[in-house]
Amino acid sequence: MYNILAIAGDGIGPEVMDAAKSVLGWFSQNRGLAFRIEDALLGGVAFETVGRPDPDETIEKAKAADAVFLGAVGGPKWDQLPFSQRPERGLLRIRKDMGTFANLRPALCFDALKDASTLKPEIVSGLDILIVRELMGGVYFGEPKEITDLPDGQKRAVDTQVYTTSEIERIARVAFELARVRRNAVASAEKANAMVTGTLWRQTVTKLHASEYSDVKLSHILADSCAMQLVRNPKQFDVIVTDNLFGDVLSDEAAQLTGSIGMLPSASLGARTGKQQLGLYEPIHGSAPDIAGKNLANPIAMILSVAMCLRYSFGRQTDAELLEKTIDRVLSEGYRTSDIMQPGMTKLGTAEMTNAILRALSALSSK
Ligand code: IPM
Ligand code: MG
Repeated sequence: MYNILAIAGDGIGPEVMDAAKSVLGWFSQNRGLAFRIEDALLGGVAFETVGRPDPDETIEKAKAADAVFLGAVGGPKWDQLPFSQRPERGLLRIRKDMGTFANLRPALCFDALKDASTLKPEIVSGLDILIVRELMGGVYFGEPKEITDLPDGQKRAVDTQVYTTSEIERIARVAFELARVRRNAVASAEKANAMVTGTLWRQTVTKLHASEYSDVKLSHILADSCAMQLVRNPKQFDVIVTDNLFGDVLSDEAAQLTGSIGMLPSASLGARTGKQQLGLYEPIHGSAPDIAGKNLANPIAMILSVAMCLRYSFGRQTDAELLEKTIDRVLSEGYRTSDIMQPGMTKLGTAEMTNAILRALSALSSK
């Protein structure tokens, strides 16, 4: 029995979370997996209900769960709140308190969607890259982080980029290990030419590579150049390892290569304790307030996050692959949500796309 915490959050979060729950339901009915799913509040909805975006109760439950699913947080309604009360604080705190330092963001272009990208099909077809983003450090969390008043009436804002050797080492290790079971190449992206954190990052990755991972092909790339290469020739990459902020930016860019940001799942993993792999699974798309509540959201990023959970937290490789194959099948049958709609295809809402996926799961697994 796996205990799952479901944090739907804001915007389209509840709609895509419903999709995740249906898919989990399918796996419990058909593949002998047992789940106990509990809901919890985080983000704007938590602020409205209990007065803060990061309720301790949710954080404690997340730490105790076997896996945590998160829809999305944030929305214009809360934009005016002070920084400490914004929905995003809830997200940053849960990542930090769960200890999920490694954020895996695979960008995979399904064949059926190679024409849906704004890039030429030959640039993106067959694309399969993995961004490994450091998630607990860097400029998101470094201190000082403040806005102060200057004597001349101006304000001064400071964010601090900080990395220690061990923080860099542990994320690089994750990247090297994952590369070994992929195409064995890691590109490490930083700004060693302008930032001392970049210098330390490069030195640390180089040293770890030489001592433990010299079988993996390692290249160093400046983060700005990486951004450019991602649209010029993305298939040159296998695994990209990078810091928290660059990883945020590069993963949105990579998402667009796959056709839509509505397609990209993520897994945030902490240290493995024994057999247990703590994981927080979320689509990378955010709360999309403009389409919230309209049954328009693409549930695929969330459903692919379920696949990542099956793989990383529950060790169910075959089930994860079944789910990924099913998505591929549904797309090749011509089903689309509006974000990936193309001429001649069948447009479905969130719930209908989820049902199409459930039907295809049953069809594929009975073969
Ligand atoms: C993401 C998001 C978050 C981030 C925001 C909502 C704080 O953009 O998960 O990529 O910057 O990490
Ligand atoms: Mg982002």
